[in-house]
Parts: sequence; structure tokens; C-alpha cells
Amino acid sequence: MSSVVVVGTQWGDEGKGKVVDYLAEQADLVVRYSGGSNAGHTVVANNKTYKLHLLPSGILYPNKLCIVGNGVVIDPEKVLEEIANMKAQHVDTSNLRISTRAHVILPYHKILDELQENDLGDKKIGTTKKGIGPCYADKATRTGIRICDLMDKEVFLEKLTTNLAYKNRLFKNMYNAPELDLDTVYQQYLVFAEQLRPYVADTGSLLQENISVGKKTLFEGAQASFLDLDHGTYPYVTSSNPIAGGVCTGAGVAPKQVGTAVGVVKAYSTRVGEGPFVTELLDETGHHIRERGHEYGTTTGRPRRCGWLDACVVRYAAQLNGLDYLAITRLDILDELATLKICVGYKLNGELIKHIPASLKELAACEPIYEEFAGWQQDITNVRAYKDLPENAKRYLERLSEITQTPLGIVSVGPSREQTMIMCELFK
Ligand code: IMP
Repeated sequence: MSSVVVVGTQWGDEGKGKVVDYLAEQADLVVRYSGGSNAGHTVVANNKTYKLHLLPSGILYPNKLCIVGNGVVIDPEKVLEEIANMKAQHVDTSNLRISTRAHVILPYHKILDELQENDLGDKKIGTTKKGIGPCYADKATRTGIRICDLMDKEVFLEKLTTNLAYKNRLFKNMYNAPELDLDTVYQQYLVFAEQLRPYVADTGSLLQENISVGKKTLFEGAQASFLDLDHGTYPYVTSSNPIAGGVCTGAGVAPKQVGTAVGVVKAYSTRVGEGPFVTELLDETGHHIRERGHEYGTTTGRPRRCGWLDACVVRYAAQLNGLDYLAITRLDILDELATLKICVGYKLNGELIKHIPASLKELAACEPIYEEFAGWQQDITNVRAYKDLPENAKRYLERLSEITQTPLGIVSVGPSREQTMIMCELFK
């Protein structure tokens, strides 16, 4: 059995798209298992930049089976838009398969996302407003509409009627917001349904069939460990499980079918949206990183909060995901800095703590303990072998590897496929 899972170790936007794209070349199947169009993967291939949200990165290669698993929430309009975009760029999408068990995002989910955020005022989560949370909420309360329901006109109408009546009561009585018209939504989604039909499949069985004949499978994580609903900085998280454990529930495989785990680590920290961020830099260095790294959201265009690399966060992600390797991205963004810092521990009320507190009040009160490193202050974007990196860059990376007890597997020094140093074999 040969499978690899790629997960984010921080708060997302680590550059997973690039690592996944590299690994997709070696895989037979590429599988998304969580999240939805809240994700944004930027992949640079053949001198072209592709922005993917819901489609697995494997779509950029011919002959890869690309699966959107049951754990993903599907916005039909968005996925169809993405398919059309790919076709316009001469990318073949005929190998795409979307799970019959995946839940469908409906217009009321997006409206509710917005209304709930507005209601929270300065306590807002900072969601992408793509309807992700409300859709997963319906899934958990067992009122969701799945792709298999959308494929059946009558079932869809029955479920939509019940759901919309409830949501409209909520809009009217709770939010004083306009109600949605049943027939408009129904007709619009019937059109989407027909356009999606050729891609719909029982992806769980398809996956098992392929794994049983030794096909190489790549599980593509979206979001990241600290946005995980259970293990992240709750409530400032997404509504699914992006960690490696989420592969089992979100794709329909057993734990022992999830092979090598690769954790993608951005060489510094960023986060979009609200929530405590122990190593956040609100100074000139933070500004420098944001501008040099073009740290603005792929999905929302929002400026990302920037900070020093937090090894406590990455260490926990290494444990949580059982990481075999670290894939370091965007090391080149730090090229110009004279000194760098890595957070190696937290102090809470004057005491060193070993874990990341569940309580946000405690997490917000944590002070970072930093180790300082001399910068390399040279352009590393043309380095192609790990041994040729400046000594100071290697020292920085090797300290992270030591703290997280996880070997370095990949180091990336730029956006293109060529700017990637591989020090491990991932598909065994
Ligand atoms: P939601 O997933 O839209 O509900 O947003 C919940 C939180 O997750 C917010 O802080 C978002 O900014 C964050 N988030 C969701 N998707 C991504 C992503 O792909 N990268 C980074 N942050 C994300």
C-alpha cells in the first residue's frame, strides 16, 4: 500500500498546493477529504498560475483520478465555475469524481454565514463567508442535503422545502433578513445538478478498489491543524477536521490505509481571521514579511497576520498528525532579515508550559520564549540542493526539525516546481 497525506501544520496557507502538486505527479489518485471552497491553493505549473479551491491539485496532470471525498462540502456553483475555468485553460477535468455522500452548500448557508458573523460583531470568527460552518452544522444536525439527494429531483425538492421553510423562519424572525424563494433555488440547483452529474460517484468504493490494486494515493489536506474543529484554536477554526485523522472519515479509508504523513510548514507563521496568535508581529518585521511574501488571502484577498515561526505549534502538529517529514515552504521570504526567531516554548503566568492551552484566555496570555538565529541575508531562490543552502538557513531549519523530532523532507525556496529540494522518498 502506498499513500501519502499532506497536511498544514499551522493556520493554513502554508503552501500545501505546491507540495501537493509536486507529489501529485507521482500519484495515481489525488483525494480531497475536508473543507470546501474556503480553501485556496495556488499552484504554479508550466509558467502558469492556477488558483484551486475545491478541485484536487492533481487536476493539472492528465490521467490522475481526482476525488472530492464525502468529507468535503460542495458549493455546486463554485465547483462548476472552477471546472469551466480549468477547461478554458485546456485542463482536462474528465477524471474528476465527487462523492455522492458529500454535503451540498446552498444559498442559505452562505447567507447564514454572513448573518452569524455580523451578529458576533467584534467576536466574529473571520470566516471566508463561503457557507462552510452552516453547511457542516446541518450535516451534524442531520438536516443536510447530500450530492445523492441533489441528484434525485423529488428527494431534493422534499428536503429543500423542509430546510428552506426553517431557514426562512430564521431569516425573518431572528435576523429580519429577506427570505429565499423555494422555486428559484430549486430551479437553479436542478441546472447545477445536471452539470455535476457526470462527475458524481461513490468515491469511497472507487478509492478502495484503487487502493486494493496498489494505486498510489495522495490525500490532499485543506486548511490546517490549528484550524481543526477539534484540535485547533476553537472557536477560531474551520468546521471540519483537516488533520491526518480526517482522511479516514472524510475519504472513507481505514487508519492503516493512511501511509506517510507530510506536514507543510511555512518558514514563518501567518493566520487569516481572528484568534490568538502568540508569535504575531505587529511591527515593521511583520509588515516586511507580509509584503515580501504577498501574504494576502487566495480566497478572500484579506491581509494575513504575520509572525515568527512557532515551533510549539509545529511540534503539536507533528504529534497530532504522526508526521514522517516536514515540508518547509517560503524559506526565501526570510532572505533579507538580519535576525530570525523561533518560538521554542510558551510561558503562562511566569511558568513554562509544555502543551498548547485549550482555553483561549490562557493561550492569549501566553508569552513566547524565543531562540534567536542569525539570518543568511542572501538570495536563496536559485539553490537546488539542500547542502548548498547557507549555513544559517540550515541551522534555522535543523533546529525546527530537532524541536519537532521530525526530519526535513522537502524545502522550497520559490513558487515554481524547480525551486523544490527533495530529501526523502514519499511514495514507498
Ligand atoms: P471558514 O472555514 O470559512 O468557516 O472560516 C473559519 C476560519 O478558518 C477563519 O479564520 C478562516 O480565515 C480560516 N480559513 C478557512 N479556510 C482557510 C484556508 O484555506 N486558509 C487559511 N485560513 C482558512
